[in-house]
Amino acid sequence: MNAAEARLRIEELRRELERHRALYYREARPEISDTEYDALERELAELEQAFPDGSTEDSPSRVVGDDRTEGFETRRHRAPMQSLDNTYSESELRAFGQRLAKLFGDVPLSYVVEPKIDGVAVSVTYEQGRFVRAVTRGNGIEGDDVTANVRLIPTLPERLAGDDHPDVVEIRGEIYMTLQEFRRLNTARQEAGLEVFRNPRNLAAGTVKLLDTAEASRRRLDVVLYGMGFCSSPIVAAQSGIHDKIREWGLPTVEKFWRVEGIDAVWTAIGELDRMRGGFAYATDGAVVKLDDLAQQREAGSTAKAPRWAIAYKFAAERAETVLRRVTIQVGRTGVLTPVAELDPVQLAGTTVSRATLHNHDEMRRKDIREGDTVLVEKAGEIIPAVVSVNLALRPGESVPYVFPTACPECATSVVQSPGEVAWRCPNPDCPAQVRRRIEHFASKACMDIEGLGEAMVDALVSKGWLRSIADVYRLRREDLLTLGKSVERSTDNLLAAISASRTAELWRFVHGLGIPGIGSTSAKDLARHFRSLAALAGAGEAELLAIPGFGEKTAMAVRAFFNEPANQILIERLVDLGVAPTVPEASAGGGSEAFVGRTFVLTGTLQRFTRDEATARIEAAGGRVSGSVSKKTSFVVAGSDAGSKLDKAQKLGVRVLTEEEFLALWPESPQSS
Ligand code: IVH
Repeated sequence: MNAAEARLRIEELRRELERHRALYYREARPEISDTEYDALERELAELEQAFPDGSTEDSPSRVVGDDRTEGFETRRHRAPMQSLDNTYSESELRAFGQRLAKLFGDVPLSYVVEPKIDGVAVSVTYEQGRFVRAVTRGNGIEGDDVTANVRLIPTLPERLAGDDHPDVVEIRGEIYMTLQEFRRLNTARQEAGLEVFRNPRNLAAGTVKLLDTAEASRRRLDVVLYGMGFCSSPIVAAQSGIHDKIREWGLPTVEKFWRVEGIDAVWTAIGELDRMRGGFAYATDGAVVKLDDLAQQREAGSTAKAPRWAIAYKFAAERAETVLRRVTIQVGRTGVLTPVAELDPVQLAGTTVSRATLHNHDEMRRKDIREGDTVLVEKAGEIIPAVVSVNLALRPGESVPYVFPTACPECATSVVQSPGEVAWRCPNPDCPAQVRRRIEHFASKACMDIEGLGEAMVDALVSKGWLRSIADVYRLRREDLLTLGKSVERSTDNLLAAISASRTAELWRFVHGLGIPGIGSTSAKDLARHFRSLAALAGAGEAELLAIPGFGEKTAMAVRAFFNEPANQILIERLVDLGVAPTVPEASAGGGSEAFVGRTFVLTGTLQRFTRDEATARIEAAGGRVSGSVSKKTSFVVAGSDAGSKLDKAQKLGVRVLTEEEFLALWPESPQSS
């Protein structure tokens, strides 16, 4: 490459990197994987070194991203939030060790090795032991104030435990979403025709930046803390001490870190981390290696972008090339069409992968993915395999662009796209694919839990014409079922018994099973708890629905629209006629009273008689609900000793505050005696 070509490529890389950083940090919808981004960044750094032109100081390869977005207050960090140098190679890790060994005159160096959490960087400030603020990294100097959403994280305490804390401390960590929560929310998004998030990190980033706190409160975030950015008084001398302090203060911390001497032991620890990280609650994409001694850290110093005393060793995402034989289209419960890549089976991250999601039509078009292409498939950690790119050199000569169907592949109805949605859907509610999915969902473990009525059985019964709606489940005839195969007597009787038992399933299971858009199991439980009968729920007005904590306009409208729909009214009538009578367990069975049913509690401060988890379990068992933040809809704030800002807020909003004694008095008898 000559100098002119290099200049062009450098310009192009800078523009591309800038665009990818905006997609990753600001919009939480990256188009390329971290590995691809790192490779571009590396290419730029190498070119800049080989062809310097004096403008590299502020080049994108030297700057951190910027996540600041419209609508948030900007706050300055007391100490900058830096990024880390990355490597994928053992030899570069060893070179890092050698640089430090040289600097410190070959004295044995202690390192800490900890997981590199694939989350959203956050700085949380505690003043006088009280949580006051949470700020995103932003541009490293100042970030967005996301206190309102971070406050909702149930594991982040309002107050630090113990009394050994500095006046002001900025604690650094990552916000993440568990895989389970990610799946729950993405399923709902897909059903609602919204673009699904690619991985938990992107969904966590999108959630932290929600301006609608009610919506944020319906998504569960978690946080893990691992560092100290600023501390008003020196309280620890080592990174390992910071981990100890974080734990001592009752803050969520990494499951494991290693304190080791020398780079050989660092390498061994990285191997151990790689073997165990699959069991962590959060996704990890590498190890962070830090000098343990804080005085040594200061001496080693930093470059403009990253400290010299730390490095991130990234685990390579597992990738493989394979041939995409065919694109199939799946039709979901609400008619959403999802393209799926049918692949030549390939070994990836210990499993055989033969299908990968292609997300949606837009995404396929952007990547120009065609049948017959050789594609690169990546499985980053535990995330669903995805097609990363196409190997154009191997594209067959006769290849043609993929044409997304304009008619439903199941029922031939013309597909439609609603404004603002990326998904195309089949608008025919009687589409056999939708019918199958609706019945499967209704019978699933998470809903009515009808054993024996899984995918294959539903398929068979729908194609026989015996099931056209969920109501038909309760009209299945023994003599028909017996014709399905030989020696099916026992399984038929088991299935009929399971169906019969489901008539009195708990109300929330039934409500979840109806498949109302946006109503997952948590909202279904809220509805069941609040209305306590199907009739009351079906007749509820929008205002009453909006009064349920955590219910916003969209959810309330979806519920109302569902019960207003004449076809759904007929369906419910038929179910009731067939003996379906969902039940609600007596609230008082748990030792509770009317004081709890339909009420929202916020716990703050330290309670003497029980831990927060115990108190939460008791309240829920008695029919109440526990929330992490105080609003006008809060029924009671239970204030223990050292209650913090939630108490102030309750007083400001005029929410009733209970002492622990008053709280205990809500039970007819002491909850501890039950
Ligand atoms: S230390 C000055 N430790 O990774 C040192 N960062 O790619 C700053 N990250 O900006 C960071 N896990 O957002 C550190 N155990 C860990 C980490 C970690 C994840 C993030 C952090 C950082 C980014 C760099």
